[in-house]
Amino acid sequence: MKSIQVGLLGIGTVGSGTYNVLQRNQQEIQRRAGRGIEVTMVADLDVARAQSLVGPGVAVVNDARAVIANPDIDIVVELIGGYGIAKALVLEAIEAGKHVVTANKALLAVHGTEIFAAAHRKGVMVAFEAAVAGGIPIIKALREGLTANSIQWVAGIINGTTNFILSEMRDKGLDFSVVLKEAQRLGYAEADPTFDIEGVDAAHKATLMSAIAFGIPVQFDKAYVEGITQLGAQDIQYAEQLGYRIKLLGIAKRRATGIELRVHPSLVPAKRLIANVEGAMNAVMVHGDAVGTTLYYGKGAGSEPTASAVIADLVDITRLHTADAAQRVPHLAFQPDAMSDLPVLPMSEVVTSYYLRLRVADQAGVLAKVTGILADAGISIDAVIQREADEVGGEGSTQTDVIILTHDCVESQMDAAIAQMQALPTVLAAITRIRKEELA
Ligand code: HSE
Repeated sequence: MKSIQVGLLGIGTVGSGTYNVLQRNQQEIQRRAGRGIEVTMVADLDVARAQSLVGPGVAVVNDARAVIANPDIDIVVELIGGYGIAKALVLEAIEAGKHVVTANKALLAVHGTEIFAAAHRKGVMVAFEAAVAGGIPIIKALREGLTANSIQWVAGIINGTTNFILSEMRDKGLDFSVVLKEAQRLGYAEADPTFDIEGVDAAHKATLMSAIAFGIPVQFDKAYVEGITQLGAQDIQYAEQLGYRIKLLGIAKRRATGIELRVHPSLVPAKRLIANVEGAMNAVMVHGDAVGTTLYYGKGAGSEPTASAVIADLVDITRLHTADAAQRVPHLAFQPDAMSDLPVLPMSEVVTSYYLRLRVADQAGVLAKVTGILADAGISIDAVIQREADEVGGEGSTQTDVIILTHDCVESQMDAAIAQMQALPTVLAAITRIRKEELA
């Protein structure tokens, strides 16, 4: 049978990995897919470089629309990234009746509703395993492997750059800005690292997982997004002393009134496996009512790990493209006419526990006032430590740090309590608040 013909839009790190792995493993992939899968056309602005990466039998052009217009191309792989031209090309490929594979989390998290609706109308597939956690097959796991479950929550380390930075901060006791520069020098962080360090990349991925886990539309605009730029080395150390690690988590959680969708630094008990995911690695925990808690671990970026996910999608499409469209796995796991209207909850309604650090005057009654405010707000304290003033501010210091761990409360309750504590004259600096997830 004739091979499935693939056109790549962009041949950078992931595109070249996809080409190479398809070449290297072509026989095994064919035995699995039932047909050969071949890259026969590539579009890239740097034609000479692109041609040097592929065999002479592959047509290389600088116009992506030439790939979409080629009637022999069955699947278009979009590896350009971003919301601009990539969106236009994906929609044009769908209109041309092509199946699409993309690693573009930003595009799908923001414009997924429009793109999936267009694909549904045209009866084509848009596959995006590579968009979340690179080589980890988390989309497949959530959408198919766990399909029996009512999924309760998903929590993941889904950005390798920030996990690398946090690991280095903890290991070496260094500040964020120092480690960021080192990460850029080593190529772990981009020259413009904003999307990674501000939590945006993780929020794109969490948005996609929330949609598949709960059958809600993709709603990136409703996600709460907080990155790691404000984290201090001392909070990482205090957390460690209390038996926790700080990780940037992407969280999607089902509650009776709606869905929590949030990305922020979180204390995680050091004894959890996920707390020990270090460096640029990714990991995702999923809790389903039937299966309990499951954990998926692996490389979240890189040429061949991401290619592994792209090719898995190519094989799925090769197997299913002749099937009746209604019999295929729905893009977001749930049938398009059976989506949930559970709202994404505002951050003020999220329920979680907290780590608080207060720089206070080392005077009688200060701790009593602080704990009194928490008690009046109905917030239960789990643990308190107070540093010796000399350790915090040096010999003869009159200031110290009080660190408080709380039990669960509603975020708006905590906002109000923090405002009251901040107003105390004996609280000498901005209060640090980091959320805490037990992931039990
Ligand atoms: N920049 C991402 C990361 C990889 O650091 O994990 C691609 O999403």
